[in-house]
Amino acid sequence: MARKFFNGTVKSVKALVESLNSFKVPGPEVVDVVVAPTFLHIPAVVDALRPEFKVAAQNSWVKGNGAYTGEITADQIADLGLEWVILGHSERRHIVKESDELTADKVAYALSKGLSVIFCIGEKLEEREANQTQEVNARQLQALADKISDWSKIVVAYEPVWAIGTGKVASPEQAQQAHAEIRAWLAEKVGKDAAEATRIIYGGSVTASNSKDLAGAADIDGFLVGGASLKPEFEDIIKAAAK
Ligand code: PGA
Repeated sequence: MARKFFNGTVKSVKALVESLNSFKVPGPEVVDVVVAPTFLHIPAVVDALRPEFKVAAQNSWVKGNGAYTGEITADQIADLGLEWVILGHSERRHIVKESDELTADKVAYALSKGLSVIFCIGEKLEEREANQTQEVNARQLQALADKISDWSKIVVAYEPVWAIGTGKVASPEQAQQAHAEIRAWLAEKVGKDAAEATRIIYGGSVTASNSKDLAGAADIDGFLVGGASLKPEFEDIIKAAAK
């Protein structure tokens, strides 16, 4: 599974969609490719993108339609025909200061509207240096487990905060260790079947050149790609994810 998301102008988003449409990549039976434009660009992307690519929102509100000026609800995202939303991205958690609990409530609400959720977790640099990676991941996962019991529409995205947009990718060994621990956590707290079925994708400075080695790790099931998703090399990342 590969991911993509971008900011952009009307013009640059159009160019990105044209580039994506020219990719020769395996079909959705092999790899899900989900692109997450900003809300403003979603309708144009949905209209122009080849239908085998799916479109995700980058966020959704914790409740349904109501007086929440400036927020966009899962109801509206589903109404537009979208199947996916990204929740708990580190920029939401650490810049906008969304708590574990709010994030979990958002996920539960999005699931209740039939959306699939890319649920992002991951530790900050000082937490890794203090050997707290699994503790942080487990805390963020537990907050969600307190709110949901069905994980079939969850993709867990492990994104160490220190690796996002920094060019400092986790090594395949570091990422594999975190993914294996997340899967073990799922097996213990949610169940063996959920642990096997849940896709755990890695994000943080993924490029075409590091994606092959990362994809070779047993518990890495795909990627959440930021910067490199805006470049032609995204095609190679998709191919690497389609292992
Ligand atoms: P990056 O971004 O691939 O540029 O590190 C990842 C992300 O923002 O989730």
